[in-house]
Amino acid sequence: MKNTSLPERANKLIQLSIDNHIYAFNYFQWPDTLPENEYWFSPDALSIANSAVEKELTEEQKIKLSKWECINSFSLNNSGERELIHEVSRVMHELPIGESKEYLHHLIDEENQHMWYFNKFCNQYAGKVYTDKKLQLKKEKTSKVIDHFLVFARVLIFEEIGHYYNIMNSKDERVNQFVRQINKAHYSEEARHITFGRHLLTPLAEQALSSEESTLKIKSELNKSIQMNINSLYNPSMYRDAGLEKPMLIRSRLLEDENRKLIHQNTILKGIKKVFAKLELDLNVNV
Ligand SMILES: [Fe+2]
Ligand SMILES: [Fe+2]
Repeated sequence: MKNTSLPERANKLIQLSIDNHIYAFNYFQWPDTLPENEYWFSPDALSIANSAVEKELTEEQKIKLSKWECINSFSLNNSGERELIHEVSRVMHELPIGESKEYLHHLIDEENQHMWYFNKFCNQYAGKVYTDKKLQLKKEKTSKVIDHFLVFARVLIFEEIGHYYNIMNSKDERVNQFVRQINKAHYSEEARHITFGRHLLTPLAEQALSSEESTLKIKSELNKSIQMNINSLYNPSMYRDAGLEKPMLIRSRLLEDENRKLIHQNTILKGIKKVFAKLELDLNVNV
């Protein structure tokens, strides 16, 4: 699969980053507090949406849970962006993509600001940032070619999933205005990162997927990444902080709920499944 449009695409994205760049440090007017009787997360995007668990909760409980789902989502953004900056910085000067790599300086610049506002939001309005368990997992050593592909494929999995939440939460009028504004600002910059990531994976895949052995290894790593990203959406701490009983049981019920699996397959993972199908990477995403 040839991709000749990466340099052209990168140049356009660099210009868009320069023209539309949000200077986050003075962009937002931070309210002192946020109302506890409003949704902080779209009820349609909650981890309980369409599940049997949802039917057992009152509107009041859902509103309470929406605060902690927002904190979980922003905490995941914060930790994922920290990992992203680390990994992209580690490999960016090794990539065989010529001047297109210049875009990565813009990407890191923007992610640094996102990381700042997500961290600030969680601390200011909830007094905590949830820790991300998946970051504690050790990654195996691989060849540079596989390593480069995996870095950007993992980044794209994380960003495509995050995109679903940015869209759901920026569009839903039931969600608190300030939360919507943050999701909207994040959405507009992430749309560029995702465009770049989709174009970048094609040239990286040419070498990374050149043998059956490396393809198998990549498939197994990406299946693990997808599974971990999905699992992290069901953080038991958020059920506990929302005052729900048996948070571990809620998590396991939701992870086994057939309607939730349909949502994973048809909406949350829709974007990333398309990307991997285009690369003829047939993943068995059974989540
Ligand atoms: Fe971001
Ligand atoms: Fe991003």
